[in-house]
Amino acid sequence: MNWPSHGSNPNYIYKAMNLNIPDLIIDFSANINPLGPPKILKENWLRLFEKVIDYPDPYTSTLQEKISLHEQIDKNFLLIGNGGAELINLVARMLTNKRVLLIQPTFSEYEQSCKTSNCSIVFHQLHSPNWELNGEDLVDQLQDVNALFLCNPNNPTGVQYSQATIVRLIKLCKEKGCHLILDEAFYDMTETYDSIVPFVKEYSNLVVIRSMTKMFAVPGLRLGYAIAHPAIIDELSSYQPHWSVNSIALAAADLCLQDTKFIGNTQEYITNERKKLFSFYQREGLVLSPSRVNFYLLKDPGLKDQLPLFRFLLERGIVPRHTVNFPGLKGSWLRFAIKSSADNNQLMEVIKEWKKRRP
Ligand SMILES: Cc1ncc(COP(=O)(O)O)c(C=O)c1O
Repeated sequence: MNWPSHGSNPNYIYKAMNLNIPDLIIDFSANINPLGPPKILKENWLRLFEKVIDYPDPYTSTLQEKISLHEQIDKNFLLIGNGGAELINLVARMLTNKRVLLIQPTFSEYEQSCKTSNCSIVFHQLHSPNWELNGEDLVDQLQDVNALFLCNPNNPTGVQYSQATIVRLIKLCKEKGCHLILDEAFYDMTETYDSIVPFVKEYSNLVVIRSMTKMFAVPGLRLGYAIAHPAIIDELSSYQPHWSVNSIALAAADLCLQDTKFIGNTQEYITNERKKLFSFYQREGLVLSPSRVNFYLLKDPGLKDQLPLFRFLLERGIVPRHTVNFPGLKGSWLRFAIKSSADNNQLMEVIKEWKKRRP
């Protein structure tokens, strides 16, 4: 079967499964903010339209200044990109022909981008039920790699590694002369994240990658940034196509950052919905990953392969993310985004129906 490599665009999964798309579907396969974009964006949408006749600022100066204030870091430590995905790609380009270590299961773009850059790749596998990461387990492998990619909180498990674990890894990587590429695409989906950004000033081997498309629900606009030592930022920027970030995205990001309550409101909403969903699943005897963010892994322990549940949900218009292309998961879990309360309630109704048929 031709499994799509990412969530979103549900028509591809229906096609791969040879199923008709129901009239009403709810897409749980993309991990974006269930509240949608900040209101300020919609209110100013027509004003943003006027930007289409200008070339974007190739130096992204205005947004850089905003993010520099937001992150309390000098502008020359920042590179704005066309989504976290572009920055991952630029980092992989910087690592051309090098050896990299990936912690699995994780976001598939690290492997894809590193392969394109002809890197040789080694893996360290984490395991259920907790998918814990222990820096000491990586000591030997770090010996002969040039970079470690780490996603925190991790996609697809939603597990958040402690600041102490990350700092230990930054130091270990420094000792071994390798880079730590820390993808924090979902760091702001939890109230409990301790920022790693202050460490960038001291550790020139650290690269932090941020996405703005998740929190501000603008994956169609493409926005992200990297934080690293100026020498790394200069190198990444030299690989970036001119005008890579479009004018509307630049202006939209500026507006999103003006809404100072938005992130806190989102975190509260997600935490409440997650609590509701998790206690329901536990009552129903389903197994979950210990997620701290806006998505989680789920399985029916009565099934070896989750394909029957996946099909059952798709037929009823519920679209989870398959896990076939996550090493170590291979379809034995399904990933769900936390969506609006109404959507989550609908998901619970369909799961109840499933459990009635297969108690
Ligand atoms: C862990 C992680 N990092 C980065 C990205 C890329 O995000 P974007 O390019 O939309 O900023 C994604 C998208 O799903 C992701 O899951």
